[in-house]
Amino acid sequence: MKKLLVICIGLVMAGAVMAQGIAGSAHDFSGDTWNSTGQICITCHTPHNADTTVSGAPLWNHQVTTATFTLYSSTTLDANDLGQPDGVSKLCLSCHDGTVGLEAFGGVNTVTDPITGTALLGTDLANDHPVSFTYNTSLATTDGELYDPSTVNSGLGSTIDADMLYSGKMECSSCHDVHNTPGIAKLLVKSNAASALCLTCHNK
Ligand code: HEC
Ligand code: HEC
Ligand code: HEC
Ligand code: HEC
Repeated sequence: MKKLLVICIGLVMAGAVMAQGIAGSAHDFSGDTWNSTGQICITCHTPHNADTTVSGAPLWNHQVTTATFTLYSSTTLDANDLGQPDGVSKLCLSCHDGTVGLEAFGGVNTVTDPITGTALLGTDLANDHPVSFTYNTSLATTDGELYDPSTVNSGLGSTIDADMLYSGKMECSSCHDVHNTPGIAKLLVKSNAASALCLTCHNK
């Protein structure tokens, strides 16, 4: 009995017991009042009549944000093509900026149930890690304290570029797995224990 208790406390402290996959994750909306379909994928994807306005969007079924965002800026930022969020990040912000209703999928465009709480990023991204800019060998060289994404391993199987970048760009999905495939807290692509996620790219 005592032994079992010790094991249990050990597991809780390690924080390692997380369910993998989208079912039961923060992105499983099958039981939410604003989703009467009882399905999981449908709030974001559809097999037919997908929205193709965002380039590269995978069979998209959620209304896309039209907001103009305040961008991150700093005197030390070297990236020179930081612009309005595009690609995958624009898809995330189509719920996380709070201007689009969660229920706005499958042709619905009401704003009855916008996102609330800590998951609400809003349209001011000045206080968020920058996204939607090119991260390549040249940026790594200019910065001096970034790993070369085309050669350095991400720890996820291949290079930073292959595993974490989208058409060579940093996006929300560089750090997050929208489907919770690895089952790491806050839908992260890899554990950030001892800042391992940050130290994948930043040579500090
Ligand atoms: C909360 C929104 C959301 C839900 C729910 C969701 N997805 Fe996705 N999915 C995305 C986004 C955003 C992308 C593109 C970005 C990425 O891959 O990170 C994507 C990409 C994909 C892709 C192409 C890239 C890849 O990962 O293979 C497939 C296939 C996919 N989703 C299938 C599914 C299926 C099947 C379900 C339901 C079991 C599902 N998704 C549920 C948002 C979602
Ligand atoms: C269909 C709307 C929708 C889309 C699209 C969407 N999210 Fe979410 N996401 C939510 C909601 C709602 C929550 C809060 C769920 C809760 O509080 O239980 C959430 C929660 C999260 C969380 C917190 C998870 C946790 O365990 O606390 C992260 C991280 C996240 N989303 C990232 C993303 C990223 C990255 C994308 C794009 C690749 C994305 N989301 C796309 C609706 C969405
Ligand atoms: C450089 C990596 C990185 C990028 C890029 C990134 N995030 Fe995150 N995000 C994190 C980490 C790490 C956490 C967990 C922070 C914590 O636990 O305190 C997090 C937490 C979150 C949460 C949960 C907040 C909470 O307190 O519950 C949401 C929602 C979220 N991110 C959405 C996004 C969206 C949307 C984007 C793109 C606009 C994005 N993230 C881009 C690393 C990132
Ligand atoms: C997938 C790669 C990647 C990951 C993971 C990542 N970053 Fe970054 N980060 C970058 C790149 C590239 C820049 C742009 C640097 C530049 O242009 O000067 C950046 C910019 C920043 C900046 C702004 C630098 C400035 O000069 O204004 C800070 C601070 C930062 N990251 C901290 C973090 C932290 C903290 C984490 C972990 C939660 C993290 N990053 C995870 C790639 C990454």
